[in-house]
Amino acid sequence: MRAIVTGGAGFIGSHVAEALVARGDDVHVLDSLATGSREKVPAGAELHLGDIRLDARTLFDSVRPELCVHLAAQADVGTSVERPDYDAEVNVLGTVRVLDAARAHGTHVVFSSTGGAIYGECDGPAAEDAPRRPISPYGISKLAGEEYVAGWNRLFGTRYVSLRLANVYGPRQEASLEGGVVAIFLERLAAGEQTTIFGDGEQTRDFIYVGDVVAGVLAAAEHAGGVYNIGTGVETSINALHAACRRVTAIDREPEYAEARPGDIGRSVTDPSLAARELGWRAERPLEDGLRLTWKSLQEAVAG
Ligand SMILES: NC(=O)c1ccc[n+]([C@@H]2O[C@H](COP(=O)([O-])OP(=O)(O)OC[C@H]3O[C@@H](n4cnc5c(N)ncnc54)[C@H](O)[C@@H]3O)[C@@H](O)[C@H]2O)c1
Repeated sequence: MRAIVTGGAGFIGSHVAEALVARGDDVHVLDSLATGSREKVPAGAELHLGDIRLDARTLFDSVRPELCVHLAAQADVGTSVERPDYDAEVNVLGTVRVLDAARAHGTHVVFSSTGGAIYGECDGPAAEDAPRRPISPYGISKLAGEEYVAGWNRLFGTRYVSLRLANVYGPRQEASLEGGVVAIFLERLAAGEQTTIFGDGEQTRDFIYVGDVVAGVLAAAEHAGGVYNIGTGVETSINALHAACRRVTAIDREPEYAEARPGDIGRSVTDPSLAARELGWRAERPLEDGLRLTWKSLQEAVAG
């Protein structure tokens, strides 16, 4: 299959590109390297340096892909608060340009949306029809992207899929980007540095291993239309995550606590049962197992 992975030089995109190459696809990565890097693009995938806002159509015209996994985004909540116009340009206008280019070639699209930033504060595992209460420009722009995807399906009979990803972690995640709390804890522990928990640490998240996300993307690539949570349904507190990181690294360093950050969500967890029923997908990797793989890869990277 000919495939375009937008954002394939980023954390999740590089894993998706790797899986597509492994199954024998002809894989083209469109990435501006805004936050991604060349080194992340897997061998066997071709990197096209470009911006989804400007260059999607030209690349689609030359590759004529059957599949597009659209992961390129402004994916940082803090940046979206500081520069909501830039966030909207990339996540809304950029997505519209990708959808239009895809439609011109009959390309199936899998769009990466977000669970946490769209549901906001949760009372329990949020199903797809739970109230959507984004509390950042990032959540708003991703929700807008989803609405374009659903709208394209209604207007043009396309069968695109949106995946609401929970908190993804795994090898190649950047500690410098917000949200990468696993990468931050592991890198700091490795460097012998202090780790900080904001608030009392009892806030919860739904941590999903990147390999499980890739499996969800591949399942969605075979599926026609819809919105699906790609999460574990398991709530893990930041305190419990920190304790798990200490166990996995065997570095027993207590965290320090700092004032809660404004806007930090107390509970964030998604209900993955619809994806289990309709995509035949479920998260397989337990947290400590995924942390172990992430830690191993970090140590290999440090060792060179
Ligand atoms: N990491 C998570 O926990 C998480 C959770 C929910 C949803 N997502 C979504 O998954 C996708 C991938 O996230 P990630 O964590 O791998 O982030 P990332 O920042 O590592 O990847 C994003 C990639 O998009 C590229 N990019 C940014 N703007 C671009 C543009 N205008 N044109 C072309 N390329 C551009 C970046 O260079 C980068 O390689 C994003 O859409 C994000 O919103 C991520």
